[in-house]
Amino acid sequence: MSERLKGKVAIVTGAGSRGPGLGNGKAASILFAREGARVLCVDQVLDRAAETVGLIRGEGGEAAAFAADVTRVAECAAMVAEAVKRWKGLDVLHNNVGIESRKDLLDTQEDEWDHVMAVDLKSMFLATKAAVPEMVKRGGGSVICVSSIAGMRGHGRTAYATAKAGVIGFVRSCAVQLGPKAIRVNAIAPGAVWTPMVENLGPDARERRRRANALGTEGTAWDIAWGAVYLASDESRWITGQTLIIDAGLTITTREGSLGAVR
Ligand SMILES: NC(=O)c1ccc[n+]([C@@H]2O[C@H](COP(=O)([O-])OP(=O)(O)OC[C@H]3O[C@@H](n4cnc5c(N)ncnc54)[C@H](O)[C@@H]3O)[C@@H](O)[C@H]2O)c1
Repeated sequence: MSERLKGKVAIVTGAGSRGPGLGNGKAASILFAREGARVLCVDQVLDRAAETVGLIRGEGGEAAAFAADVTRVAECAAMVAEAVKRWKGLDVLHNNVGIESRKDLLDTQEDEWDHVMAVDLKSMFLATKAAVPEMVKRGGGSVICVSSIAGMRGHGRTAYATAKAGVIGFVRSCAVQLGPKAIRVNAIAPGAVWTPMVENLGPDARERRRRANALGTEGTAWDIAWGAVYLASDESRWITGQTLIIDAGLTITTREGSLGAVR
């Protein structure tokens, strides 16, 4: 590896995976470490974070596991304090945590709406707010927030799509405020990648998702994680307030194209 993140301290939230296989947070943690970062792998389920740490340490990288629910302000503060205590500062915050809701407007109950907003949007606010003072001390940093293409197109999953659109507004707002402090804030909008989060959709949906994009290939968490490496690194030093879409061209296809009629 090329040590693109050498010397950096990073926090990845949702660094475990909810099931066997590779989620976006796990893949980003592994690539960050391979590129030379020291990574605090944060998950509300400690064992999940510990599994990711085991993989990183197994290949000689530096990482530690930390349990926190990032919808809670005190736990976000504790997570940042842990990274700073261990490694004397913080350069990168990868706000990866997110949960899905597959319900449309009329089926979404108020408690589900509130829960999705808390996990997918409020967590980004709380974690970023906790991290920024430490990045200011370092003279700059990079915050990455995982959105979704569901937040960029008309999408039937009301709460999820709304929260993920909110993430894009959040990064723009933070980017203009934090630019003068050399802190960059960007989003990644993954397309239909195959991760443990969507495994229960089943094989037919998996095939439909693969065929829908312009390349006709299945995306994995690695594809998303490479985008995170770029945004975490100094290679992206002049990029802020942006949303990096990683979707094999799904958002630029026409309906006919996305149904496979052109192949
Ligand atoms: N898979 C896809 O097709 C797809 C598409 C677009 C966006 N995304 C986004 O990717 C991100 C992560 O996906 P993943 O594949 O890594 O999911 P995942 O469910 O495999 O892993 C997420 C981890 O986050 C943890 N977590 C959940 N709530 C938490 C909280 N409040 N505090 C701390 N940890 C918490 C879980 O324990 C889990 O280990 C999400 O934001 C998701 O919306 C996924």
